[in-house]
Amino acid sequence: MGFSYQNHILHAESVPITDLMDAYESPLYVYSRTDIEHNWRELDQAFGTHSHLVCYAVKANSNLAVLNVLSKIGSGFDVVSIGELERVLFAGVDASRCVFSGVAKTNTEIKRALEVGIFCFNVESMAEMNRIEQVAKDMNAQAPISLRVNPNVDAKTHPYISTGLKENKFGVDMDEAVTIYKMAHDSPYLIVKGLDCHIGSQLIEVSPFLDALDKILKLVDKLDKINIHITHLDLGGGVGIKYDNEQTIDINAYIDSILDKVGDLKIILEPGRAVVGNAGVFITKVEFLKQNSDKSFAIIDGAMNDLLRPAFYQAYHQVLPVNENSKGIDAHWDLVGPICEAGDFLAKNRKLSLSEGDYLALMSAGAYGFTMSSNYNSRPRVAEVMVSGNQHTLVRERETIQDLFNKEHMIND
Ligand code: LLP
Repeated sequence: MGFSYQNHILHAESVPITDLMDAYESPLYVYSRTDIEHNWRELDQAFGTHSHLVCYAVKANSNLAVLNVLSKIGSGFDVVSIGELERVLFAGVDASRCVFSGVAKTNTEIKRALEVGIFCFNVESMAEMNRIEQVAKDMNAQAPISLRVNPNVDAKTHPYISTGLKENKFGVDMDEAVTIYKMAHDSPYLIVKGLDCHIGSQLIEVSPFLDALDKILKLVDKLDKINIHITHLDLGGGVGIKYDNEQTIDINAYIDSILDKVGDLKIILEPGRAVVGNAGVFITKVEFLKQNSDKSFAIIDGAMNDLLRPAFYQAYHQVLPVNENSKGIDAHWDLVGPICEAGDFLAKNRKLSLSEGDYLALMSAGAYGFTMSSNYNSRPRVAEVMVSGNQHTLVRERETIQDLFNKEHMIND
């Protein structure tokens, strides 16, 4: 697949990562187009002839090239801000293939989404529904809506990425949903289309998805009885990927078990990580090795501002040497970055043989890698490259020092 050793050098498809280092330098995000397409198609094809739309969750990786590649193979998109919406439109996507999620859509966002003809808003509260209704009224338009319900199931994932419990800020309680649907149904400015839920991210078991589905299907029945007919179910994203050696979800079994329950209802999914997570790596260089009586630190040129997941979620990313045969100092290394924070690490306690100047790959970094990066410590954001076969394309230039402050102004007195 996308990343493998050939002649002991890690390759992205057919391109040696060492060639990419020569061309673009370190640190660098590298994506495999073949893997992105394969992962999306696997989800898409699992539905067979059942009516569906796989809406890639843009937040996972919003690079225009990623959006464009997915658009070309028929993907829909899940956006959560006007920035994501404009990116998707710029990448050549028709708005009728987009759902708009997120807890706090602004007037400007709603207006723009209506102007371009979004497929559906996923509405997260009564207050937000009222706002959407008002904007639609002002435009003399009708807004297509789904209500995001909170089925109160435990996704059994990291608390920061678990969203389906009552204690979370997302969605509305199941009990409240009927009242809100009735209001939407009665409004001349809203069209009830679907029912939405998203219970969390990096789920590695199917059962929480099915528990949530059972609950929302009961709600569909209830609504049917009062003549409110739902035409699609949006089951959100959340399918986990292998970062280490965890058991993951079998895509075909997952979709089959959904289709067993939903009759003819159109199904929308919003996968992010499952499409791009394992289709990307983050490459970094060992700057210095520093050992004391307790610890071995490899100080690298990448940092928490480039790949936040380890610092923020204690997330694990596998670390592979770009040159499998490189021999250096054998130890259990902590990979730490140049940022002035004790939490600035990308990996801990990894058995590696390292020398200064070695390149390392942090695997599974295609999702929530670059999109969560920042300029903390005034570090320019890194470049991104997409590989396809033996071709590589720079899909985002490395930021320059000038880029860091060219929107800032001094006080002139
Ligand atoms: N739909 C909604 C409404 C979401 O909130 C999310 C993710 C997705 C879809 C896509 O979920 P996925 O298929 O990627 O699991 N930064 C965290 C993940 C945050 C996920 C936020 N919502 C991480 O790095 O693990």
